[in-house]
Amino acid sequence: MAFPIQRLRRLRSNEAIRRMIRETQLAVDDLIYPLFVTHGEGVARPVEAMPGIYNYSIDRLLEEVSEVARLKIPGILLFGIPAGKDEFGSEAYAAEGIIQQAVRAIKKGFPDLLVVTDICLCEYTSHGHCGVVRDGRVMNDETVELLAEIALSHAAAGVDIVAPSDMMDGRVKAIRTTLDTRGYEEVLVMSYSAKYASAFYGPFREAAGSSPHFGDRQAYQMDPANAHEALREVQLDIEEGADIIMVKPALAYLDVIRRVKDQFLFPLAAYNVSGEYTMVKAAAQKGWIDEKKVVLELLTGMKRAGTDIILTYHAKDVAEWLLQEGV
Ligand code: PBG
Repeated sequence: MAFPIQRLRRLRSNEAIRRMIRETQLAVDDLIYPLFVTHGEGVARPVEAMPGIYNYSIDRLLEEVSEVARLKIPGILLFGIPAGKDEFGSEAYAAEGIIQQAVRAIKKGFPDLLVVTDICLCEYTSHGHCGVVRDGRVMNDETVELLAEIALSHAAAGVDIVAPSDMMDGRVKAIRTTLDTRGYEEVLVMSYSAKYASAFYGPFREAAGSSPHFGDRQAYQMDPANAHEALREVQLDIEEGADIIMVKPALAYLDVIRRVKDQFLFPLAAYNVSGEYTMVKAAAQKGWIDEKKVVLELLTGMKRAGTDIILTYHAKDVAEWLLQEGV
């Protein structure tokens, strides 16, 4: 049955019918807002390549978090900028580390907000790699032990979800086992399962001061050319005990998001990373694109591709826009 009997434009003729048949709905409930926390007081240091994003000291972070709560964004993702760095990233698992302090402060003031912490060493190590380095190589098993320590210290501080982003083999199992044996079986693991070695993390590394001082991350993060391997990564993380899986970055990997969603019945997150944010912000500041429309289109595309959760630096803006539209 074809034209003229079928006319798809009839389904597009006004906003009411468009709303009624819309297949994908972006919602505030889908969003997690990433935040950077640093030592000090009264600090709100702008991240140059990410307009609107700051490194906050805990007092200022709490103001930002209350804004997040007002907008009804369900969760935040915390990254820490330590006072000092060393070979083994020891502030990452220190009881009085910046993240541990921040989590305690946030959970005290905002018990219902989901607090997610990134579990990695790169912000804390003097060499900027995501693990323990020996003879120029990132050591897998030694790193995994430290990652479990980090997760444990965050759990002790009261975190809801830990999110390992290092791409070591076996980290989810080690973290799950450690949490369970220490009485934290209710803490969730959201694993950065398919995390690619992407140039889109550039602005983040400026924000967190976490660029590797030698080499790159291709010996642990995934090759952007691979999709089947992403399914293997996800499969293993699920077997190791991940509750939520993640694909990162989002925009250049929408096919991976779709394949993962089709294959696994697990909640799926997509990380709309720093470089993706920067591109939109830069073009919008030049007046070359309509920021609101572009952001909503991009995030709707991620949802259409199959993600349930979107980690995005646009979260506050999106929540505000959706609120205005009464969605
Ligand atoms: C830590 C980590 C990174 C990001 C999230 N966790 C940086 C990296 O892997 O180099 C990137 C986030 C972003 O670009 O927004 N390993």
